[in-house]
Amino acid sequence: MTLFHVENLKKHILYNIVNPIVKCCIYIILRGSQLGPVQRGARDLAAAFSVPTLDGRFVYEPGLFRGSLVIHAFTNKSAFLESLWSSAEALAPLVHELPQSAHVLFLSLDDSALSDALWMKEQLGFVSQRGTLSRLHFSPVPVFALGNWIPAVLNSWGCTTHNCGLSQAVFTSGEWKMPVIVKRLDARYDWLTKRWGQRSYRLVDAGDGCVPSPGVEGAVAWVSEDGCSFFTKVQSLAKSNVSGVLVYAGPGKPIRDMTCEGAECDPPALDVPAAMVHLEPSVVQALRLGQSVNVSFQATPSPKFFICIDQQGALVEMGGFLYPTFKFINWQAQWFDFHTRLLSALQIPATVLSVFDRVQMQGQRGARATVHLPPEVLDSDLLELEVSLTCPSSRDMSCAHWDRTVQLFVCCDPQSEHCNTELGRWITAFRRGSGHWLTDVSPLLPLLDSPTCSFTMKTDPWAMPWVVSLNLRFNSAPLRPFRVTSLYTGGTFDKGYNERYQTFQFMAPDSTKKVELYAVITGHGSDENECVEFCVTSHHFTVNSVYNNTLTFNAADSPLGCTLKVSEGAVPNEYGTWLYGRGGWCCGLQVDPWRVDLTQQLDLSGSNSVLYSGLFEDRHPNPSAQPGYIIMSSFLVFYK
Ligand SMILES: *[C@@H]1O[C@H](CO)[C@@H](O)[C@H](O)[C@H]1NC(C)=O
Ligand SMILES: *[C@@H]1O[C@H](CO)[C@@H](O)[C@H](O)[C@H]1NC(C)=O
Ligand SMILES: *[C@@H]1O[C@H](CO)[C@@H](O)[C@H](O)[C@H]1NC(C)=O
Ligand SMILES: *[C@@H]1O[C@H](CO)[C@@H](O)[C@H](O)[C@H]1NC(C)=O
Repeated sequence: MTLFHVENLKKHILYNIVNPIVKCCIYIILRGSQLGPVQRGARDLAAAFSVPTLDGRFVYEPGLFRGSLVIHAFTNKSAFLESLWSSAEALAPLVHELPQSAHVLFLSLDDSALSDALWMKEQLGFVSQRGTLSRLHFSPVPVFALGNWIPAVLNSWGCTTHNCGLSQAVFTSGEWKMPVIVKRLDARYDWLTKRWGQRSYRLVDAGDGCVPSPGVEGAVAWVSEDGCSFFTKVQSLAKSNVSGVLVYAGPGKPIRDMTCEGAECDPPALDVPAAMVHLEPSVVQALRLGQSVNVSFQATPSPKFFICIDQQGALVEMGGFLYPTFKFINWQAQWFDFHTRLLSALQIPATVLSVFDRVQMQGQRGARATVHLPPEVLDSDLLELEVSLTCPSSRDMSCAHWDRTVQLFVCCDPQSEHCNTELGRWITAFRRGSGHWLTDVSPLLPLLDSPTCSFTMKTDPWAMPWVVSLNLRFNSAPLRPFRVTSLYTGGTFDKGYNERYQTFQFMAPDSTKKVELYAVITGHGSDENECVEFCVTSHHFTVNSVYNNTLTFNAADSPLGCTLKVSEGAVPNEYGTWLYGRGGWCCGLQVDPWRVDLTQQLDLSGSNSVLYSGLFEDRHPNPSAQPGYIIMSSFLVFYK
C-alpha cells in the first residue's frame, strides 16, 4: 500500500498550501475570541482548552490542572509512530512507569482520528491487565478540527529531523507514471550510524538477505524480514558491497525498530544504511518482472508529534526520541517532577546574590561579573549555586550542539592562592535549553576570601553561545568551613598518570572540628578502551597510608546510565546520545561534588598524609594511543 493514494496526495498538497493561511487565520481569530490568549511559543503559559475524549471531555485549566501534560499527535503516515505504537516493549513503559504527576492526551492528525483513538487505547490495553490508566486521555477529534490553539503550536513547531517529520522512501521506475512514496523507519542509530545519501539507488531483490548475495554491489537490497536477525542481513549484504538495505515487513505486519541484539551490538558498527518499510506490491511486481526500480530517500516536514505543559503551566518542548519507546515521555515527566522539587527548594529562605542574569557565555571570555558580597554573607556556613543554561531563543533548535564542560571560576583576593579556583562544573545539554540545577558547594566558602569577587563561567571557546543565569544562595549551618587546601588536579590519563602525583603532608589548623575531602572529577576523551568518557575508572585518596577512599564511575559503560539521573536533574531527550552513563558526569547535568568525612582517619593534632591515584579496571592506565583525560579539582576542607 502506498502512503499517499492520489486522492490523499492531493489533499496533502492542499493542506500544505493552505496551511500558512489557516495558521494566520487561527491567530487572527484567537486574538479577538473567547478561545484564550495567543500561544506565542515555547515557555509561554499554556491557555485553557478542552477536547472531547472517548470517555467524555478532557479539560485543561491553568492553575487548576495538577501535574504535567504531554500532548501526543499521532499519524500513521510516520513509520516511527507506527513502530512506537505496535511494539509491546515500546508501549509497556507508558502503562507501568508513567510518573504519577503526568497525564497524556492522545490526538490524531488525520481524518481517521476516531479509529486511531480506539486503536491506541486498544494497543495500550494489550500491555496492561489493569486496563489503561485514568491519566491517559484519547480524543476522537482530529487535530485540524480541535478549535483551539493546539494545531497552531504543533504546526509552527513542525520539523523533519530526529524522528519528527515523515521519513520516506521514494521508488521510481521507467514503467510507472508516478513515484511510489512510502514511510520508512531507519535502523537504530547505535549500531548503524551510516545515513542514506541524497542520490538515487538501484533496487535489487535479495530474498531474505541472510547470506551474501551476488549482484547487489552498489545497489540497495530489497529483503524480507524473515529468516535471520536484522544484523545478520546487513552484515551478509555488506560482504557483497551493498550500498544500503531495505527490509520489508511481512503482509499485515507493522514496521519494527531495527536493532541489534547482544554481542551483535558491540563495535565496530556496520558501514551501511538500512531502513524498514511495508511490503509494497508494485515494487515487488516490477522486480519480479525484471523492470528497473530505483529508490531514493527523503524527509517531509510534519507538525510536531509531542509537546508538553509542565507542572508550572508553561508550554515546553519534548526534545528528541532516539528510538521508538514511550520511555522518552516518562523521562520528560520525571524531569518535570525534578524541576518542581527544585523550584520548591528555591523557596527556602536564603540570602540570594545574582551574579549572572541571562548573560551570554561564549568565546575565550565566557561570562564574567564582579560582585560585591555584603558582610552578612561572609559569615555564612552554606553556599549553593543555582544555575540555568538556556538558549538564544526560546526554541531548543537555537541551543548549542554537543555536551561540553562548563566551569565556574572565582577570584576574590587577586593575591590569594585561591584566585581563579573552580567553584562549580556542569555539562551542557545537547540542543536543549531547560537545564536548571542547584549545587551545594558550601565546603568551598573559604574561596570567597575578600568582599569583592569576580566570577568567570566558560566552556570551549569555539562552542555556540549559551545564556547563563547564576545565583549564589547563602545560608547558615551548624559547622562552618573556614579553610580549604587545594590537593590534586587531573591530567592526561596515560601510562604516566599516577607517577605525577605525590604524597601530600598536612596538619589540621587549630580548632578544627571536622575535615572533609571534596573532589569534582570527570573523565573525558576516548582511547581504545573508550576511556575516560565511557570506561569504568576508580579514583582513590589514600589517607595516612591505610584509609582508602574510593570513587568509582560504575555507570560509565551502562547504556541507560544517565537516564537514571533524570530525577536528579539530567536534561532528558537531548539531540545526542545522552542516555549512556559516563565517567562521572551526564549530559545536561551538574557535576556533583564527591564529599568524604575524613575526621576519623586523621590525627587532628599531628601530621597526616594523603595520596591520590586513578585506575582503569584496578590497574594503572596504559592506552596505546589517543589517551583521554581527567578534569579534577580536589580539596581538604577544615570546619570549625
Ligand atoms: C498503519 O499503516 C499500515 C500500512 O501503512 C497499516 O498496515 C496499519 O493497519 C495502519 N494502522 C492503523 C492504526 O491505521
Ligand atoms: C537509478 O540509479 C542509478 C544508480 O544510482 C543511477 O545511475 C540512475 O541514473 C538512476 N535512474 C533514475 C531514473 O533515477
Ligand atoms: C567489495 O569491495 C572490495 C573493495 O573494493 C573488493 O575487494 C571486493 O572484491 C568486493 N566484493 C564483492 C563481493 O564485490
Ligand atoms: C583501594 O580499594 C580499591 C577497591 O575498593 C582497590 O582496587 C585499590 O587498589 C585500593 N587502592 C589502594 C591504594 O589500596
